[in-house]
Amino acid sequence: MKRIVDHDIPLQDPSFSADVVRWQKQHGRHALPWQNTRDAYRIWLSEIMLQQTQVAAVIPYYQRFLERFPEVRSLAEAPAEDVMAHWSGLGYYSRARNLHRCAQRVMAEYGGVFPADPALLADLPGIGRSTAAAISAFAYGTRAAILDGNVKRVFCRVFGIDGFPGAKPVEDKLWQRAEALLPHEDMQAYTQGLMDLGATLCTRSRPDCQRCPLAHRCVAYETGRTAELPVRKPKKTVPERHVGMLVIVDNAQVLLEQRPGTGIWGGLLSLPEVALDDWDRRMAAAVAPFGVMQAHEKLQPFSHGFTHFKLHVAPYRVHLSQRHAMAAEAGHVWYPVDKLAQAPLPAPVKKMLVGLLGTRDLFGS
Ligand code: ADE
Repeated sequence: MKRIVDHDIPLQDPSFSADVVRWQKQHGRHALPWQNTRDAYRIWLSEIMLQQTQVAAVIPYYQRFLERFPEVRSLAEAPAEDVMAHWSGLGYYSRARNLHRCAQRVMAEYGGVFPADPALLADLPGIGRSTAAAISAFAYGTRAAILDGNVKRVFCRVFGIDGFPGAKPVEDKLWQRAEALLPHEDMQAYTQGLMDLGATLCTRSRPDCQRCPLAHRCVAYETGRTAELPVRKPKKTVPERHVGMLVIVDNAQVLLEQRPGTGIWGGLLSLPEVALDDWDRRMAAAVAPFGVMQAHEKLQPFSHGFTHFKLHVAPYRVHLSQRHAMAAEAGHVWYPVDKLAQAPLPAPVKKMLVGLLGTRDLFGS
């Protein structure tokens, strides 16, 4: 089957918005407290509250806020503490600070009337490109494209857009689609319809494609990729380090090394470490101060994740034929094998050693 790629799908298609609008009018949400008004102040307030918060959590806050600050003037003139008190519990408090500053600017620069031009709205504190378009479309019917997280998901699926939608080139592509698909009428129903689809049917997990008015044109649905699209944020690749560790056991004691006070596992005891390049020479040099190496064998490797890197450990069991006195080797200690479980060791090193103890390998010659 030929793979469907998004740039094969025409940018413009009036039937897209027609499907969204028809569905919104019949099946979308119509009774939310910020609907059925053209009051830009109320619409702006709802859009800011809804930026990072679910509808159900927003509703009581929205209502209390409007009772205390019924229009932009009362909000602009209120003390900051009063605004914060009415936001308290909604989270993301920079939204409340920006809200207050925005109200003051709308009073000072626009005589208390929110401008209709999305570019002017987007210049106000706390209003990004998508929020500006939503406010303008809902309050003034402006032909402006929204692109919040929900809408990105709808577009990525419908048009089969590969790539993480937060990445600039993918986001540019999504804005291009969002602009090209705008209808010439019914902007409120279209804008609300996209939001409603993303929030109620085209959900991140288990989307309800059976009811979706866009399923017949949806690349993800057609190709069984709704679980894959939109592409998730790529995991940061953490650097990896490789190190050898020596398990030198003699006379029921294991050789441990005091780690430096700072850095990973600072101040703990651990096994002597050896870089893995030029391995044979390095291992011989590392063992020499402590005794005569008779043989060595590879043990089960293990890995440990730190916040900034992943450590891969290749442990080697070293058999000595003769043990040297150790006066000159400060920072090392021959530690009784039967006390290892209580030793101040890094957890993964202790786990490995105690595991070996369990198999009695540590006592083998
Ligand atoms: N999320 C953002 N804006 C919204 C709106 N107007 N209605 C419902 N959910 C939203």
